Amino acid sequence: EKDGHDWFMRKEIHEQPRAVADSLLGRRDAAGLLHLDEMRLSDQDLRDVDKVIIIACGTSFYAGLVAKYAIEHWTRIPVEVELASEFRYRDPILTASTLVVAISQSGETADTLQAIRHARLQRSRVLAICNTNGSTIPRESDAVIYTHAGPEIGVASTKGFLTQLVACYLLALYLAQVKGTRYGDEIAEILDQLDRVPDQIQQVLDGAEAVYELARQHTETRSVLFLGRHAGYPVALEGALKLKELAYIHAEGFAAGELKHGPIALIEDGLPVLCVVPPQGRDQLRDKMISGIQEVRARGARTICLVEEGDDAIGPYADVLIRLPKVPVLLQPLVAVVPLQLFACELATAMGHDVDQPRNLAKSVTVE
Ligand code: M6R
Repeated sequence: EKDGHDWFMRKEIHEQPRAVADSLLGRRDAAGLLHLDEMRLSDQDLRDVDKVIIIACGTSFYAGLVAKYAIEHWTRIPVEVELASEFRYRDPILTASTLVVAISQSGETADTLQAIRHARLQRSRVLAICNTNGSTIPRESDAVIYTHAGPEIGVASTKGFLTQLVACYLLALYLAQVKGTRYGDEIAEILDQLDRVPDQIQQVLDGAEAVYELARQHTETRSVLFLGRHAGYPVALEGALKLKELAYIHAEGFAAGELKHGPIALIEDGLPVLCVVPPQGRDQLRDKMISGIQEVRARGARTICLVEEGDDAIGPYADVLIRLPKVPVLLQPLVAVVPLQLFACELATAMGHDVDQPRNLAKSVTVE
């Protein structure tokens, strides 16, 4: 049942090319237009949306952070992303033209469920992005986009996360299509790029020897930092969460621009810092990231850089280089998170931990 893998998690990481491909299947018609047929919200309802609030927990929350960059860029609709456990306690401003998007792999997370109940009482429409047919959250929502990861058994979410990202991109592009925003022309191009992603993830998986080696080198490590910018920032947060959950190592993700506002004080000799470098073509972002990498390295950090293939500018500042396939910055999380999942999985394995059942955690958190 684990397809020759020791852990469900390892199997699920390797299923990601298939899971992403399945989540993209059958979404485009002959004319190249995007369809989200199962969604049950009319195009008019979507045209009326003037604010999106995304609510979720844990890894699903990080998918929501990526979605904010995509939805705001392609649709110009303002997006808030909030932890489900905080949402209803702050008296959020919700109206009939607010679209609340609840992201949940299991569909049973109590915090997220309570948050959507609150939103519906305020007359907002709720769209669930969920991996589990017939679970409570989609049943209590006005609309649903199912992800097609297949059952996720490992407590740490992997293919669940990637397919949530795909669903978020599709939602963003669909909103852009029905609203007719100026990014309409980009839609077909982005969909073509998304179609190439399953092969690109496979490429990351096939070339992961450097990541395995890295994992073997860090079994004595006490603390790891992750840096990212733009859509790479939630990737840094997710990389840190995976390491906490599986290897029980102190790990923190930061937006690289925040370094000088405090976290740089943590840097000491030999501290591993994983850096998600924005792709070439986004040079303003990338140059700032490079100077952040230089700063932490000058203070003794061991820099492990995830960098687009063909980008040689980072070489002099990287102690370890991990190559990523070429994708636009908004889609980069789909390929950049994979080495971080493998790093946490293999490091925890090398430390002798139970990767599928980490201590103190449950697959679905059904209490608030
Ligand atoms: O089933 P959900 O997506 O609602 O679960 C949310 C979180 O509990 C979940 O993502 C958790 O953080 C995972 N253990 C992350 O690996």
